[in-house]
Amino acid sequence: MVNCTSESLFRMSRRAVLRLLGLGAAAAAFPGLARAEEEAFTSEQAAFGYNNFYEFGFDKFSPASRAAGFKTSPWTLRVGGLARRTEDFALENLRALLEEREFVCDMRCVEGWSMRIPWAGFPLAALLELVQPLPEARFVALESCADPQWMPEVKRGSFPFPYLEGLRLDEAMHPLAFMATGAYGKPLPPQNGAPLRLVLPWKYGFKWLKSITKITLCPEQPPTTWSRHIPEEYGFYANVNPAVPHPRWPQDTETFFGPGGLNDRKTRPTRLFNGYDQVAPLYADMDLKTHY
Ligand code: MTE
Repeated sequence: MVNCTSESLFRMSRRAVLRLLGLGAAAAAFPGLARAEEEAFTSEQAAFGYNNFYEFGFDKFSPASRAAGFKTSPWTLRVGGLARRTEDFALENLRALLEEREFVCDMRCVEGWSMRIPWAGFPLAALLELVQPLPEARFVALESCADPQWMPEVKRGSFPFPYLEGLRLDEAMHPLAFMATGAYGKPLPPQNGAPLRLVLPWKYGFKWLKSITKITLCPEQPPTTWSRHIPEEYGFYANVNPAVPHPRWPQDTETFFGPGGLNDRKTRPTRLFNGYDQVAPLYADMDLKTHY
């Protein structure tokens, strides 16, 4: 398992991590350990039961029940724009081409809660290398599924779906940018963004697009749902940053959900880039006190 928790001291025994994951001996091949001070993952029940997936409803608990029958196989990922290989990939074929791995990442929602989750998937860079961006490509635009047959809020037209997200190409190529296909040693459940979602541990959770159907390489910054509709609350970059206040939720601390579920809460300070300092060079030219 690749560890992308934010500190370099990993004292937890590997066996304990594997036990927590329920992977047992089969996972012996994965090196990597969790952070000592919060050695446990958020409970699977909390991660799979407390969700933001507005296509299925605007409260935290509807997505798990309403997305239960969402059909995520077969699935097509359309790759287009400024790439040498533009193609409609059958996801199962694409996954066969890319090496999947396990990794642990913290997720910080702009609403002020956070989780530590063991994921599985592949680096977004591996997919981009496969399709070979052209030199003019500077950004990556991503689009979620918006299927009125399965998604009640898409059917009601209550929000400007499809949910769009975007990254600068160098952010998308960073080794901490992942596409997840699983979590807790299982295929990703629909409410968590099956069959393919972004995992961007240094960015607020609203950038972690779910159920992705389309990726387009483009020359300019693409429109994204939140930065277009509520720009004063949600920027394009949306890096976790306690120095940038949010009009609705305090950002200097966060509530971490632990192994005991939603009632097992710990308040801890929010860290710049969610503690993933490796990404700092990407933003060397930006004033980190400003909302982007
Ligand atoms: N992706 C889509 N398509 N629709 C959404 O409503 N919500 C975002 C993000 N990705 C969302 C989405 C928000 S606000 C958060 S905090 C995370 O997904 C929540 O991920 P989780 O439910 O797996 O915790």
